[in-house]
Amino acid sequence: MISFQQSEKEAVYKAIFNRRDIRQFLRDPIPEEAIYRILEAAHAAPSVGFMQPWNFIIIDSDEKKERLAWAAEKERKALAIHYEGERETKFLSLKVEGLKDAPITICVTCDPTRGGNHVLGRNSIPETDIMSTSCAIQNMWLAAFVEGIAMGWVSFYKKSDVRDILNIPPHIEPVALLSLGYTEDYPKQPILETANWEKRQDLTTLIFDNEWGIAKKNKISENKEAQLK
Ligand SMILES: Cc1cc2nc3c(=O)[nH]c(=O)nc-3n(C[C@H](O)[C@H](O)[C@H](O)COP(=O)(O)O)c2cc1C
Repeated sequence: MISFQQSEKEAVYKAIFNRRDIRQFLRDPIPEEAIYRILEAAHAAPSVGFMQPWNFIIIDSDEKKERLAWAAEKERKALAIHYEGERETKFLSLKVEGLKDAPITICVTCDPTRGGNHVLGRNSIPETDIMSTSCAIQNMWLAAFVEGIAMGWVSFYKKSDVRDILNIPPHIEPVALLSLGYTEDYPKQPILETANWEKRQDLTTLIFDNEWGIAKKNKISENKEAQLK
């Protein structure tokens, strides 16, 4: 196994902890080589049975971007009925302009038929193809971050709209619309945390000991308890 120098370890964690979901982009173009490196990172992701179910549609046409923004806006308004009062206002203020402003949006798709009927490991849990595609997306997010490029994930859309706009066949899943570009404002905290929508949960409450619901005692949680006493 490759061993890491301390500074290299720190660099990996720096990317993991500081990567953010970004909504606001400058219109400046991104170098094509950087996009290619980001897609190579995606393509290096793990996948069930090594099926590599992903494709990447690179969208830089203003007409397509406008239509995607329309589809996302329509869905955002439709979803707003699930929220009331302050939450509704906050939900409606989530921006979809990123889709129009960012120089490119990449639609990442998943082909469930790739590799035929019997992909190793996918027989028991069919969603493992989408899980594999999500691993590719996270690699893109981290690679974009180290390239100094911001990325935002938009999932408010009806798949049928996105299939129509991008001419995607019915058996292919449009998993994500990812806007990429430079930004002036790369936040330290998740935007939804700053907007008081949600806080990061305490990791120690999420780790169980041998069985569901049994808190795992470890040095970190014990120290926390001691501090509270
Ligand atoms: C599967 C998935 C779908 C998401 N869809 C949206 C979306 O439609 N709109 C949006 O504003 N953010 C979306 N996000 C971004 C999350 O809101 C964001 O990751 C979360 O608030 C944590 O912030 P961070 O990524 O900056 O750590 C999505 C993230 C994931 C993983």
